[in-house]
Amino acid sequence: MATTETTKLPECWQALEECLTSGIDRVILYGASGIGKTYGGLTIGDVSAGAFRLVCTEDMTNFDVTGGFMPNGKGGFQWLDGSAVKAWKGDGTKGGRLIVDEVDKASGDVFATLLAMLDSPESASWEHPETGDVVKPLNGFSAVMTTNIENMGELPTALADRFPIRIRINEPHPNALLRLSADLRGYAVRMADAGDDRISLRAFYALDTLRAKVGMERACELTFGNRAKEIMDAIKVDALGGR
Ligand SMILES: Nc1ncnc2c1ncn2[C@@H]1O[C@H](COP(=O)(O)OP(=O)(O)O)[C@@H](O)[C@H]1O
Ligand SMILES: [Mg+2]
Repeated sequence: MATTETTKLPECWQALEECLTSGIDRVILYGASGIGKTYGGLTIGDVSAGAFRLVCTEDMTNFDVTGGFMPNGKGGFQWLDGSAVKAWKGDGTKGGRLIVDEVDKASGDVFATLLAMLDSPESASWEHPETGDVVKPLNGFSAVMTTNIENMGELPTALADRFPIRIRINEPHPNALLRLSADLRGYAVRMADAGDDRISLRAFYALDTLRAKVGMERACELTFGNRAKEIMDAIKVDALGGR
């Protein structure tokens, strides 16, 4: 089990680092929710030109992806780049990172735009509707998609084609565990990928914060509801090293 004394990264995080530092610029991260996929996408590899996040929902529009006009507060409108265009432009000299969260939730029109923005750098280009400027991804642009879909066979083919590397994240990153009190770490690792019973890192962070003020029992109730007793007992046993 990964704890602070572990020097080697868990295999899934090792794989992600290796890919992103070896020339791979398209990766899908999948697996349980609350395990650290988005955080990993935002921080691992070269993100020095900026990391730009896009959270896909049914209600999102191309505005979120490529941009659109916004009231400028002076009675007029001003163009605002969407996340994908921002990531293409990066810091102006080097492309940034685009993180596309819950990609499976994007609907038809937006999905098509996303595919265009995630095309290989040679083919990808986008025309600014006002200025007519043609924008292309700058060198260094990379994209990480995250999804809770477990079966990669369910991904639409056009998307799967663009993202040949898929990594299943099955363990929290050691740095995520360092944010937790030591007695919670072992249990957090065990529960992060525990199927229907899984517990998100976010729940452990909440528990850790709450218990400092209201005590363990109440913190468990507030965080876990009717699973409180079971989880509190498990944490106690785990912290004793009993497992
Ligand atoms: N390596 C890490 N270092 C610090 N905090 C982390 C790390 N990985 C995840 N977290 C925290 O854990 C929580 C869940 O991570 P997130 O990336 O949102 O999970 P997922 O995308 O798999 O649902 C977030 O609060 C995030 O900030
Ligand atoms: Mg996420």
